[in-house]
Amino acid sequence: MKLCMIGTGYVGLVSGVCFSDLGNDVVCVDKDKNKIDQLKNGKIPIYEPGLSELVIKNYKNKRLTFSSDLKSSVKNSDIIFICVGTPTKKKGSSADLSQVFNVAKELSLSINKFKIIITKSTVPVTTGDEIEKILSKKNSKNKFSVVSNPEFLREGEAIRDFTFPDRIVIGTNDKKSNKILKNLYSPLISKGAQYINTSRRAAELIKYASNAFLATKITFINEVANLCEKTGINVEDISIGMGLDKRIGSRFLRAGPAYGGSCFPKDTKAIISTADKFNTNLSVIKSVVKSNENRSNILLNRVYKILNNKIKNKKITFLGVTFKANTDDMRDSSSLTMIPALSKKGAYIKYFDPTGYKKEFKKFKNVSYVNSIKKSLDNSDLVIIHTEWNDFKSINFKNINKGKKFIIYDMRNIYLPSKIKSQGFKYYSVGR
Ligand code: UGA
Repeated sequence: MKLCMIGTGYVGLVSGVCFSDLGNDVVCVDKDKNKIDQLKNGKIPIYEPGLSELVIKNYKNKRLTFSSDLKSSVKNSDIIFICVGTPTKKKGSSADLSQVFNVAKELSLSINKFKIIITKSTVPVTTGDEIEKILSKKNSKNKFSVVSNPEFLREGEAIRDFTFPDRIVIGTNDKKSNKILKNLYSPLISKGAQYINTSRRAAELIKYASNAFLATKITFINEVANLCEKTGINVEDISIGMGLDKRIGSRFLRAGPAYGGSCFPKDTKAIISTADKFNTNLSVIKSVVKSNENRSNILLNRVYKILNNKIKNKKITFLGVTFKANTDDMRDSSSLTMIPALSKKGAYIKYFDPTGYKKEFKKFKNVSYVNSIKKSLDNSDLVIIHTEWNDFKSINFKNINKGKKFIIYDMRNIYLPSKIKSQGFKYYSVGR
């Protein structure tokens, strides 16, 4: 099939590349010409394990192309995926849909034969209705069908999540589009993915409700971890004990820093805002947002306590600063709250991240990047393990710096407390 992905961010690029790998002809379109030129030269704008190899493979075999010409790309395609960003509005907390609607306006001028127009971007319920209205101004209704097909892939696991999804959600009442899309996804369905066809509005809401539920699950275990710390219980026992109940499930019950990234913080706020518009109070999600916004303060207070409130001139190491492992994404990372707060109190911060230097900390005089784990630990008073990269999972703390001791605060519970303590280190973790 001939597909056109509009927007080469996470969702558009990963899905486009993966669709081409499944044998489809895919053109990935972006208005950023520079980005398109880079992609043509095999330069991938995001860090995502396995993505670069797939881009190069499918670009070489010509199933994958890149273009900044939206009109001709759309004209030559049967299925169009809208994959542009829907960030939080500068004012308020609803999703900014300007990019989606601008694309819809451009599309309305390029429909030359029947097209399935799909929103893969995360868009609030009723956005599909709005897109349909825009397209109808210039085109008769039998020339297009607007479908919602949300994407559930995680950064860092994106290729695997695309290839082996738990479910594929297609929101449309149009039988013809449903049949075509079931065929498009048949290679994934035959590998075990569940295919569900719902109304368009339901598909839009499934995406937000899923992200909000996962955010709730994480926040729930983070709050239980706070109680565990006060009562001498290991939160991991709680996660295992709860997770074995099939109604609960074990995943996304890892306590840690505040959840971050480009999705949960934005989507939890956006679903609340949509509900407000429809006079519905999502009180559970509201308290999740509030609790998560306070999470970094809770962890910072623990840092202050660990250092006996003497932060000035302390040398603090951050291992990992992105919002989680296997990504270079800094969006809504809790390090963006914690590092400035510690720096303001006079600490000297060195950080190492497997994805390199981060411009976000440029303006802080006493925050510096070092290019190895070993250098980051040099003369450190406190080492904060902020993300769960494999690189951090087998550090020989005892030998790495000639036996010099420092305090370790493992915010991802990577290490066994007894093992680290037996090596003579003061060790703290989350909820245990
Ligand atoms: C999330 C969803 O997991 C995807 O299904 C969804 O498609 C995506 O948002 C999106 O809407 O595009 P992502 O933001 O890449 O994916 O990252 P996650 O792996 O979900 O992690 C989000 C945050 O939760 C991170 O800060 C992570 O460290 C934290 N987390 C996750 C925990 O603290 N504990 C856990 O058990 C799991």
